[in-house]
Amino acid sequence: MKGDVTILAVETSCDETAAAVVRNGRQVLSNEVASQIKIHAKYGGVVPEIASRHHTEIIDTIIQAALKDAGLSYGDMDAVAVTYGPGLVGALLTGVSTAKALAYALHKPIVGVHHIEGHIAANYIAYPELTPPFLCLAVSGGHTHLIHVKGYREFDLIGRTRDDAAGEAFDKVARVLGLGYPGGPAIDVAAKRSDSGYMDFPRVDIEDAPYDFSFSGLKTAVINHIHGIRQRGEELPMADIAASFQQAVVDVLVGKSLLACREAGIGTLVLAGGVSANTALREHLAKNAKNQGVRVYVPPIEYCTDNAAMIGCAGYYRLTAGDVSDLSLNAVPGLPL
Ligand code: KG4
Ligand code: ZN
Repeated sequence: MKGDVTILAVETSCDETAAAVVRNGRQVLSNEVASQIKIHAKYGGVVPEIASRHHTEIIDTIIQAALKDAGLSYGDMDAVAVTYGPGLVGALLTGVSTAKALAYALHKPIVGVHHIEGHIAANYIAYPELTPPFLCLAVSGGHTHLIHVKGYREFDLIGRTRDDAAGEAFDKVARVLGLGYPGGPAIDVAAKRSDSGYMDFPRVDIEDAPYDFSFSGLKTAVINHIHGIRQRGEELPMADIAASFQQAVVDVLVGKSLLACREAGIGTLVLAGGVSANTALREHLAKNAKNQGVRVYVPPIEYCTDNAAMIGCAGYYRLTAGDVSDLSLNAVPGLPL
């Protein structure tokens, strides 16, 4: 493709309605995110039907705001990129249908993007010098993946969670602690009030699968511990439990990621996904990676959680490689990487 490439990107896979305008992959001209967190918080988690309905109500407004912020109009767009999976089917469908309608009306290509590919690409926006290959730890509400990113569109999944995703474990433990939804940020904040080691919750290793994760045993151990304290009528050491649980998750994430770097001889580790906003994870990883001579890239906080700029960036690399979709594009809730 010759000249500038300007992409309108849409992301509606979960509870953020997002649109962005991205130029040449890494230049973000606008990035609008409308979070539904307050709406879902009173139910203790995302209610899929409510998420879909809310997306349909505001998607047009969000797209128009993204264009206005960028100072551009529909006619300036070279393509439309959209997350088509994985995620909640109704939520994804809102974005996919909207993007298809726009691509059809504008006579422009439509590019379907994998949500995790987007999270990885968030780092390209923040770090112009970053190019594949590298190892990526993608940690979100739905995923805990160790990915060897061999090229912009070439991914080798070398490890994954066998049960709960890291973010899911944060959300469930936070709910039992009464910290509300979303749990990750709440545990992050609560843990900062702890100054003791408190206790060692289990760090799980899986035999013959050193890069796979398991968080359900840890989650159950923490929840049982909380129930025990409540049954004895004792006061809950909220901050200490939050910090001890968080440290157990962080130890496993950091330990396995750096092990993979060592064994595969990879010198660059990239964090991606909502959990990469976690303070302890960022600090612990930076410190340990430095000792091992591994260079770490961590997305800026606004690009850790769901947004459309990252979809525009990933979409650019698909588009320029000729990997475009067509109007038969559908939402794929369980889309593999
Ligand atoms: O990537 P994301 O916005 O949505 C998914 O693709 O799932 O990630 C959301 C997840 C939630 O589980 C949330 O609790 C977690 O990221 N999260 C955090 C933090 N901020 C968000 N987990 C730990 N510490 C945080 N500071
Ligand atoms: Zn996400």
